[in-house]
Amino acid sequence: MTAGVGVWLGLGLVLLTGLCQGNSVERKIYIPLNSTAPCVRLLNATHQIGCQSSRNGDTGVIHLVEKEDDLTWVLETGPTPPYVVLLEGSLFNKAILQKLKDSSRVSGIAVSYTKPPPAEGFSLDVKCPSDGFGLYTSERGSQYAHCNGTVWNPLGTGFSYEDFSFPIFLLQSENETEVIKQCYRDHNIPGNDSKPHYPLCAMQLLSHMHAVTSSATCMRRNSIQMSFSINPEVVCDSLADYNIWSLLKPTNISGTIPPEEQVVMSAVRVDSRSFFWNLAPAAEGTVSALVTQLAAAEALHKVKDTQSLPRNIMFTFFQGEVFDYIGSSRMVYDMQKGRFPVRLNNIHSFVEISQVALRNNSVLWIHSDPLSRANETVNTEVQDMIRILKAASKGANVTVEEVEQSQALPPASFQRFLRAQKIPGVVLTDHKDAYHNKYYNSMYDTAETIKMEYPSGLPQEEALEYVTETAQALSEVATLLAKTLYQLAGGNDTVDIKADPHTVTRMLYGFLVKSNNSWFQSISRPDWKDALENKQPQYYVTASQNGNKRPPTIPTRLLMSVLANITGQVVNFTKEECQNPDKAPDSKKELYDYIWVQGPLTGNTTSREPFCIRSTMHNHFAESPANDLNDWGSTEYSTWTESRWKEIKARIFLIPSQELEIITLLTGLAVLIISFCATYFINAKADILFTSTEDSGSAAY
Ligand SMILES: *[C@@H]1O[C@H](CO)[C@@H](O)[C@H](O)[C@H]1NC(C)=O
Ligand SMILES: *[C@@H]1O[C@H](CO)[C@@H](O)[C@H](O)[C@H]1NC(C)=O
Ligand SMILES: *[C@@H]1O[C@H](CO)[C@@H](O)[C@H](O)[C@H]1NC(C)=O
Ligand SMILES: *[C@@H]1O[C@H](CO)[C@@H](O)[C@H](O)[C@H]1NC(C)=O
Ligand SMILES: *[C@@H]1O[C@H](CO)[C@@H](O)[C@H](O)[C@H]1NC(C)=O
Ligand SMILES: *[C@@H]1O[C@H](CO)[C@@H](O)[C@H](O)[C@H]1NC(C)=O
Ligand SMILES: *[C@@H]1O[C@H](CO)[C@@H](O)[C@H](O)[C@H]1NC(C)=O
Ligand SMILES: *[C@@H]1O[C@H](CO)[C@@H](O)[C@H](O)[C@H]1NC(C)=O
Ligand SMILES: *[C@@H]1O[C@H](CO)[C@@H](O)[C@H](O)[C@H]1NC(C)=O
Ligand SMILES: *[C@@H]1O[C@H](CO)[C@@H](O)[C@H](O)[C@H]1NC(C)=O
Ligand SMILES: *[C@@H]1O[C@H](CO)[C@@H](O)[C@H](O)[C@H]1NC(C)=O
Ligand SMILES: *[C@@H]1O[C@H](CO)[C@@H](O)[C@H](O)[C@H]1NC(C)=O
Repeated sequence: MTAGVGVWLGLGLVLLTGLCQGNSVERKIYIPLNSTAPCVRLLNATHQIGCQSSRNGDTGVIHLVEKEDDLTWVLETGPTPPYVVLLEGSLFNKAILQKLKDSSRVSGIAVSYTKPPPAEGFSLDVKCPSDGFGLYTSERGSQYAHCNGTVWNPLGTGFSYEDFSFPIFLLQSENETEVIKQCYRDHNIPGNDSKPHYPLCAMQLLSHMHAVTSSATCMRRNSIQMSFSINPEVVCDSLADYNIWSLLKPTNISGTIPPEEQVVMSAVRVDSRSFFWNLAPAAEGTVSALVTQLAAAEALHKVKDTQSLPRNIMFTFFQGEVFDYIGSSRMVYDMQKGRFPVRLNNIHSFVEISQVALRNNSVLWIHSDPLSRANETVNTEVQDMIRILKAASKGANVTVEEVEQSQALPPASFQRFLRAQKIPGVVLTDHKDAYHNKYYNSMYDTAETIKMEYPSGLPQEEALEYVTETAQALSEVATLLAKTLYQLAGGNDTVDIKADPHTVTRMLYGFLVKSNNSWFQSISRPDWKDALENKQPQYYVTASQNGNKRPPTIPTRLLMSVLANITGQVVNFTKEECQNPDKAPDSKKELYDYIWVQGPLTGNTTSREPFCIRSTMHNHFAESPANDLNDWGSTEYSTWTESRWKEIKARIFLIPSQELEIITLLTGLAVLIISFCATYFINAKADILFTSTEDSGSAAY
């Protein structure tokens, strides 16, 4: 009882001092930053890359760096390190990043998004993408390994693959950047005396990562946790999603197809990445090819006599390719193991579309592999393919040209197939050697990069249908592709094959401008409508937390919706039959896939007319074979994993001077000591202070 009195007395005193200090407490109000993208940690067999903060976030005084000279303050003269650098996007380059990385006075970087993008180009990817995991290695075709001869991405600085010990965030909203700049101007602009004038505007960046060192390490930790803990704490996840594939002629895929059935493969990749998490607009890098292949598939599905072609055509969309070919290496692995309906021996020929939207004078370049062409049989077939491509380009607005035969293939999924077997094939691109894409795997590879231009003020529904020049040009490439595939499959009459520029323009709009548009709404599954957003989709392949039981990523869902719409037929199935084809008569579910879609609006704006689509679209779980083999030290297969984290956030606030903080601390300590003394005193003198009541109490009895 007596001790209690002392504590209450002490608390009262603390409260009193607290009230007197009210001002500085009040000033420490946080403003959360709401549209940022963090750089996170990824790991491979041997390294960790990306960024992270300390457990409770890293804090620093904000310093605005708008020109190179401003760095001196951060790196040398500023009196209040550490600093969080507010970096203009145009200065996010190799020289500056290296200086900041090497300095101990930097606790984080917030980069602002630059508009228009830097004219000189911008790529934080490496100069030689996916080196070591493609066809050419030190053991095989070593004269072509490590981009000897042709450097594909000369602008690449490689920072996307480096390890940073501090957090880096992208500020995506200009308005928020302006709020921060204003806070900086109001509080941090150094005076002539170069002394800080408190309070200063500071930023806190929190992005603590659970995984360290390498995939081998974090996967070992995961499995120890899984076997010994009731509540396992997983620290990293493999990157995985689904490959999508579709056959022109419906085929029973319940087993493997007979060896004599030949398939012409057409392939593109679906994913991309950038320095920041879940930010990968990939307009030229990925979407240009994706849309071209989709348009070619639509054109071929409209042709009447395809069912009688001697060979089948397989459209393939690979996921995770940017991370050392996850999707294609898994397909080849499953083909070799007989776990995929098509085997390597069934593949007659291979055509891959890579970046195709930035053609100079409409020239499309044909790349082939010099190693496999050393074999006369393969060489003859490749020459045949080139002849067919050239014939198909007659009368179209596409000029096809061949690169020198001694040049290596550019990075392509086809390389993973060639690693396993000599298959005749070509890769089609808009570049002869170095990429035309100045923003390869970066945040600036957007619709503007491929010059998708709409008349200003065009309403959304009209923009969806407006055929841009880009759409026109890509539809011509798609026509060429469709005609080529048709002939490779054994057809000879290609006059009627034509890709539809209207479909191409709608796809470009949905994939690069805004996925929440009336077309995507009507072709989307009702339970997938959350994937539709009022902005452009991002093509980052995310981490797989539930293995092959989890739903596809957003870009894959969009792709599946579009592919089903343009290659499928409406069937008269009820919702139940559609979602569970076993219940439907004659569903032939070994041949077909069924999806139930929302359908278009019915006159009034609230109800839709859903229906069922039958198509030959299939999915294939794309996770690195390294997981299947449980070999996370693999040099043969991709070993990329993504670290888990608890929370990611950024905020700004004002910090008072150190003197003021010390005074606050000392006052607090003094109060504490006084209250201890008071407690002690009261305790010691308790008999004197409180005896009378006790005595009288006992006297009452
Ligand atoms: C690089 O290519 C050149 C010409 O093709 C060749 O002479 C040289 O040996 C190659 N370098 C390596 C390291 O293979
Ligand atoms: C892992 O990534 C780092 C950084 O890109 C690279 O240097 C290293 O070779 C990679 N390791 C493997 C086994 O691929
Ligand atoms: C940014 O600020 C401008 C002008 O204050 C305003 O019109 C615009 O809507 C704001 N944008 C966002 C995304 O808040
Ligand atoms: C972020 O959102 C919160 C709550 O809506 C708002 O108070 C804050 O000002 C926003 N941050 C910025 C920088 O605008
Ligand atoms: C700093 O110096 C410049 C010229 O030397 C002067 O015009 C300006 O008023 C000074 N600013 C302050 C805050 O003293
Ligand atoms: C060329 O490739 C074919 C088929 O892949 C094979 O049968 C043949 O033996 C190879 N020829 C030579 C000279 O290697
Ligand atoms: C080729 O393109 C030009 C301009 O881009 C256009 O005028 C012409 O009609 C096109 N030709 C064909 C055959 O599409
Ligand atoms: C296509 O080939 C078949 C058989 O070789 C032939 O009968 C037919 O006339 C050809 N069609 C055209 C348009 O060349
Ligand atoms: C594809 O979408 C268009 C436009 O929404 C629609 O008219 C058509 O019926 C759809 N086709 C299929 C097979 O879903
Ligand atoms: C669709 O199926 C229903 C019931 O199975 C049937 O009554 C209807 O006539 C069918 N409609 C068409 C167009 O086949
Ligand atoms: C598909 O093939 C399996 C055996 O491989 C067979 O049992 C099944 O009936 C076939 N389905 C169709 C629709 O032909
Ligand atoms: C829209 O359709 C729904 C369902 O068919 C109906 O209940 C509703 O009355 C309709 N609204 C209008 C304004 O016609």
